[in-house]
Amino acid sequence: MSHETPSSTATAAHTDVPANGSAAGNGNGDAFENLSHENRKFAPSAEFAANAVVTAADYAEADADRPAFWARQARELLTWSKDFTETLDWSNPPFAKWFVGGEVNAAYNALDRHVENGLGDRVAIYFEGEPGDTRTYTYAQLTDEVKKAANAFESLGVVKGDRVAVYLPMIPEAVITLLACARIGAIHSVVFGGFSADALRSRVDDAEAKLVVTADGTYRRGKPSALKTAVDEALSQAGHTVQNVVVVKRNGQDVDWHEGRDHWWADTVDAASPDHAAVGHDSEHPLFILYTSGTTGKPKGILHTTGGYLTQTAYTHKAVFDLHPETDVYWCTADVGWVTGHSYVAYAPLINGATQVMYEGTPDSPHQGRWWEIVEKYKVSILYTAPTAIRTFMKWGKEIPAKFDLSSIRVLGSVGEPINPEAWMWYRDVIGANAGKNGEKKENPAPIVDTWWQTETGAQMIAPLPGVTATKPGSAQVPLPGIAVDVVDELGESVPNGHGGFLVIREPWPAMLRGIWGDPERFKETYWSRFETMYFAGDGAKKDDDGDVWLLGRVDDVMNISGHRLSTAEIESALVSHPAVAEAAVVGAADETTGQAVVAFVILREDATDSGDEIVQELRNHVGKEIGPIAKPKTILVVPELPKTRSGKIMRRLLKDVAEGREVGDATTLADNTVMSQIAQSLRK
Ligand code: WTA
Repeated sequence: MSHETPSSTATAAHTDVPANGSAAGNGNGDAFENLSHENRKFAPSAEFAANAVVTAADYAEADADRPAFWARQARELLTWSKDFTETLDWSNPPFAKWFVGGEVNAAYNALDRHVENGLGDRVAIYFEGEPGDTRTYTYAQLTDEVKKAANAFESLGVVKGDRVAVYLPMIPEAVITLLACARIGAIHSVVFGGFSADALRSRVDDAEAKLVVTADGTYRRGKPSALKTAVDEALSQAGHTVQNVVVVKRNGQDVDWHEGRDHWWADTVDAASPDHAAVGHDSEHPLFILYTSGTTGKPKGILHTTGGYLTQTAYTHKAVFDLHPETDVYWCTADVGWVTGHSYVAYAPLINGATQVMYEGTPDSPHQGRWWEIVEKYKVSILYTAPTAIRTFMKWGKEIPAKFDLSSIRVLGSVGEPINPEAWMWYRDVIGANAGKNGEKKENPAPIVDTWWQTETGAQMIAPLPGVTATKPGSAQVPLPGIAVDVVDELGESVPNGHGGFLVIREPWPAMLRGIWGDPERFKETYWSRFETMYFAGDGAKKDDDGDVWLLGRVDDVMNISGHRLSTAEIESALVSHPAVAEAAVVGAADETTGQAVVAFVILREDATDSGDEIVQELRNHVGKEIGPIAKPKTILVVPELPKTRSGKIMRRLLKDVAEGREVGDATTLADNTVMSQIAQSLRK
């Protein structure tokens, strides 16, 4: 066991939540019951603190002059081809401009300059394929690959400002594609490989993509799986803007071929010239669009630009993970289809000159120790993953990681959803304190940094600094230097310590989204109308007695399934698009492993026969087709009615009570108060 004694400084975290009923920990109810007992604190060891790359001085510097702090980071972390003249232009809120007048090339900063600085032989990526194949790219090699891809995309007619849709598995070509787009100023729009052809098509259409980059397929749990078929299906109906499709050969399976449109990566990229000059792009030039779920059915294209995004991702990656690029081996397990895979796989680690591991597959292929085998093999020192993965490993048992030597690990990160204190402690004891296969424990386990942020924020916003902060199991704790986070009540007033409310951001930050692609009104309406002058994150939060922030889950209709964002409305509209469904209501119910699970209540049309399991299976598949396998409801309940208010609003809170097996709460505002007993009765059947 670890040797430290938790300090006795009690942090009596209450469990009061925002007034909005649905905020009650959103699926984390169980975890947060423990909050009131949480009084452990783990200070960094003296040795860790002494060697930390960032100290408490950064907080003081940023507090004294926030823009000046970020201007210093921008100039120190990036090489600008033209220096900026103004740090922040906030004259037209909520539309911010950072590092105005500056010019910078993301790919040059991630690659060429390291080679020019004599680091060409440093490993950039250790790639581990699911079947066990491996590839290593040095910075010099990765630079050549990106230059070739940039030339290839240009030869296919892609120019600065064009949109490129990326539908790839977790293979090095994904990073190469993103950086090649950034190099030429094309705007990438990655669509997670787990999304369906329909979802891909709607994103391709919304962004009006000119090129799609995909692969024949990938490997999932030891089996080849297909990707290109979804691209073919998505593009089978006319009316899209795609001119070319570049296809990486990953698993060699047969693919349909559209002459003239489809090009093998090997024939275009591998064959292209490795000479390509990077030019600086305006600091506010769009870097990428990434679609994410909101409260309505239509996903939003979150837009990020160049200078501010690169500055904050690079700073946070260095500060929060205490990155020592000469010696660390960093591994972020996120897929490039999500924002974490953008900021903390494709961009920040390379900007910072780090060596990283990239793994294609699932944690249990071919055995449940695969991740720990990878950590041991590459001597991973910084591991960044999600609570849902940690809880899965807890279920599999601590004997599995104990079989491996994880002594190289010195920093552990968490992201995507609240991490319950139990999972936090397991992460610390079983992973962070592992001092070798013989079961020995480290005297000073690796610090855990729980990082809160969003697709919209672009980079980490709330997290401990591992060499400074005494960490608390379950809390992301403190806004990072230069970030102005607060918890406010209904009226937008800052709540005192010990109280809960809504998480807001009071000041613009460098990596903030610059808008929603093609929809400036929706940008204002979604994030800047709840509290006029503050960014509304959509999360409930509380401040404990030390003023540390605890995240309590979403307060809107966004669910968090294994750290993946899905909206209730999106799944409801997928369900009602099936001919058998008259009405549907979806809730995120607490789930031990995935945080939340999708539970759907459906009313069938009168002419549809309730064939029991058969219709349920059909509806699950239908959602899989409309959105993707990740959105398939875990449970579908066929009910005679849905609980509605007199104004016709579905009371999801009551359905959540049913889905989580609780006694149904206050139902007095229902238009028809017999509905809940009708539902209960039909479920008993
Ligand atoms: C949730 C992922 C608690 C939160 C980077 C947020 C978290 C949403 C944490 C964004 C955390 C993310 N603790 N909750 N450390 N990190 N969340 O856009 O509800 O996929 O609003 O970005 O995930 O999800 P997104």
